[in-house]
Amino acid sequence: MTDKPANAMWGGRFAMSPAEIMQEINASIGFDKALAPQDIRGSKAHAEMLAEAGIITKADAREITKGLDKIKAEIDAGTFEFSRALEDVHMNVESRLKDMIGPAAGRLHTARSRNDQVATDFRLFVRDAVDGIDTALEKVQWALADKAEKHAGTVMPGFTHLQPAQPVTFGHHLLAYVEMIARDRGRFADARKRLNESPLGSAALAGTSFPIDREKTAEALGFDRPMANSLDGVSDRDFAMETLAAATITAVHFSRLAEEIVIWMTPQFGFVKLSDRFTTGSSIMPQKRNPDAAELARAKVGRIAAAFQGLVIVMKGLPLAYSKDMQEDKETTFDALSSLRLVMAAMAGMVADLEPNVDAMRAAAGRGYSTATDLADWLVRELKMPFREAHHVTGSIVKAAETKGIDLDQLSLEEMQKVEPRITKAVFSVLSVENSVKSRTSYGGTAPQNVVKMARQWLRRLEKGRGKV
Ligand code: ARG
Repeated sequence: MTDKPANAMWGGRFAMSPAEIMQEINASIGFDKALAPQDIRGSKAHAEMLAEAGIITKADAREITKGLDKIKAEIDAGTFEFSRALEDVHMNVESRLKDMIGPAAGRLHTARSRNDQVATDFRLFVRDAVDGIDTALEKVQWALADKAEKHAGTVMPGFTHLQPAQPVTFGHHLLAYVEMIARDRGRFADARKRLNESPLGSAALAGTSFPIDREKTAEALGFDRPMANSLDGVSDRDFAMETLAAATITAVHFSRLAEEIVIWMTPQFGFVKLSDRFTTGSSIMPQKRNPDAAELARAKVGRIAAAFQGLVIVMKGLPLAYSKDMQEDKETTFDALSSLRLVMAAMAGMVADLEPNVDAMRAAAGRGYSTATDLADWLVRELKMPFREAHHVTGSIVKAAETKGIDLDQLSLEEMQKVEPRITKAVFSVLSVENSVKSRTSYGGTAPQNVVKMARQWLRRLEKGRGKV
């Protein structure tokens, strides 16, 4: 980065250069250079429209377009020299254009301001990110549904309070995340609908007296329509807030799955194995296999949620229209979106990679009196006992097993009959974890037959590109 003397772009009435600290606090080029591709797209659309509306000549528009394409190539090649004295990406690009094509460059900014320019660039950037997020989320859904289908009948303990509650199937557990991600994708898609309006042509804040065609630039940039109010056009950052809100909820979901992977991987649980590809060793303890990728996926929600909160606080109480405060919208948004990208890719990889330890899951599913509810349901069904009484009777039977230090299905019929004499040996059929999960056939329940059906349904939906709600 170089320091050119300030400021060729707006310095007409300025006699002195800005203080060093003024440049330092004011410049955004350090981070908004990420908007260069969007800035160039926006400028090309604007120049073309200006020429068609007869505001600039076709020859000037051609020069501008050619120059912008060259600048894009320089940026892609890494040879473009960004200057801090030129503050931001918009002025860096325009200044380079002037070096290249001379006075015609000065016509590009007709009927435009950096206020509508940055709003346009940032929207395009966030829209591109949202599209990438959708594709990445779809990949995670695939990985989950695929594994769910394979493990539709793999029994594991289901937890509440992280205490063994009732047996469930591993496939069912994975499909819960497919549903969560479907809602995430729905939220991003919904945010995208509102995002997809063009601020370009709002100019500084009041619109312009030039006969511009906002429909045309909106269409050229893939927006559905121009924003209807120029003040709103330059000062709205809802699209970034909404996207960050959706990103935060998504990251919360991934942090939960990541946490489960961390727990499942402990030797105490031993439910899943992650290969060398997604684990690390310890430099001192040779026996260790650490789930670092899962831990980091669990942690990234911190900076993503912080970006959302940060932007909300920046926007709070800002009067219309543009204020420089809004320059603080970008850096953390960029960081949050690239963090989410990492998390999604790492989770897709981990889900595909992880292999459940079927025996350990099965054994754990049987511990902790996990079929006590099945016993209570049996009493209700077979002995017509009111559920509350059945709950009480089952509690006493669990206590008897607990005193003996054995599981429910190891208790003898006589011991159960001491609590409730009408119990018959038919009760044993509901005390196994396999029968327990098989019986849960209610819609949305954990029965393997449901899970296979749901997993296949999801795979079909994903094939057709309909994995969001
Ligand atoms: N770098 C500025 C931003 O990110 C661009 C808009 C500047 N507008 C202005 N009136 N100073 O917000």
